[in-house]
Amino acid sequence: MNEINTNLLEETVKKLLAKGKGILAADESNGTADKRLQSVDVEGGEENRRRYRELFLCMDGLEDYVSGVILYDETFWQKDCSGEKTFVEKLEEKGVVPGIKVDLGAKDFPGFPEEKLTIGLDDLAERAGNYSKHGGRFAKWRAVIKIDEEKGLPTEEAVEANADALGRYARIVQEAGLVPIVEPEVLLTGPHSLETSEKVTKYVVKKVFEKLNEYRAYIPGVILKTSMVINGSANVDEASAEEVADGTVRMLLESVPENVGGVVFLSGGQTAVEATTHLDAIAEREPLPFEIAFSYARALQQPALRVWKGKDENTDLARAEFKKRLELNQLADAGDYDIAMEYLE
Ligand code: 13P
Repeated sequence: MNEINTNLLEETVKKLLAKGKGILAADESNGTADKRLQSVDVEGGEENRRRYRELFLCMDGLEDYVSGVILYDETFWQKDCSGEKTFVEKLEEKGVVPGIKVDLGAKDFPGFPEEKLTIGLDDLAERAGNYSKHGGRFAKWRAVIKIDEEKGLPTEEAVEANADALGRYARIVQEAGLVPIVEPEVLLTGPHSLETSEKVTKYVVKKVFEKLNEYRAYIPGVILKTSMVINGSANVDEASAEEVADGTVRMLLESVPENVGGVVFLSGGQTAVEATTHLDAIAEREPLPFEIAFSYARALQQPALRVWKGKDENTDLARAEFKKRLELNQLADAGDYDIAMEYLE
């Protein structure tokens, strides 16, 4: 049986969950990255995706706020504009831990209309070994769970199958020396209530930890990436930050084992300000038995993308927007954020 190097995993977890820092999710698939570019009238394609990544990854001072970056396969092997160093080498130089999205996407789940099953286990051991050999230190696998109460979603089968894959993924990448970020994203689209979000998220996260144990993942070497407990985006009652924090903390305390490596949050379509406000409210409920941090894609990158618009002359201004989101989330991570800070220069 292959062994797990628990010391290596714990060392990586410690770096990733360093106080005051978050994990940047810069791992949109090529298709999604192109969509993001096209939303600001920039053409997609490999070079523009590379420039988009460079905007964030090569910002001076990134390491003051970001402990690790999740990359997509294309970016993992690309070089920055100097043409000399790969993004992985550039991150290592800054002391930022390089990570890699290793799932191959959420596909239609046969027999279960509107539900998805994330795939990519078949050759995962080889791929994980190769990333590890080239500097990758952690991995990510995202499952998506849809809520639709009228249609009885999520089904037990979709939750079970996705949790099963997450459990097997975690063990496989741990054997390759990578810390697994285990991400069961409960989508916020739909009219469901905050209570439903709490119930479903708790059920999903509990099932994921059952599977992590069943497949013998090393729990202190696992990072859970979860959605916050929040009402559906089509629900007219807007929950307060306090309600989001109460629901999220209850969900975590009832479904996450205390010896987990840590817990990070995705933004999931919340606005940048909402994601920061909610993180702040959650952090104010500390002490939790584990470290928490932000791990956003959209809530960190979108405001900068809108300013950048693919133009080199906008890079400094766009990076200032990115830095502002990082600074405010750093404060929120300590429960020290105030919405008035959004308007300070
Ligand atoms: P968002 O913060 O945009 O939800 O993305 C986080 C992520 O890693 C999704 O897989």
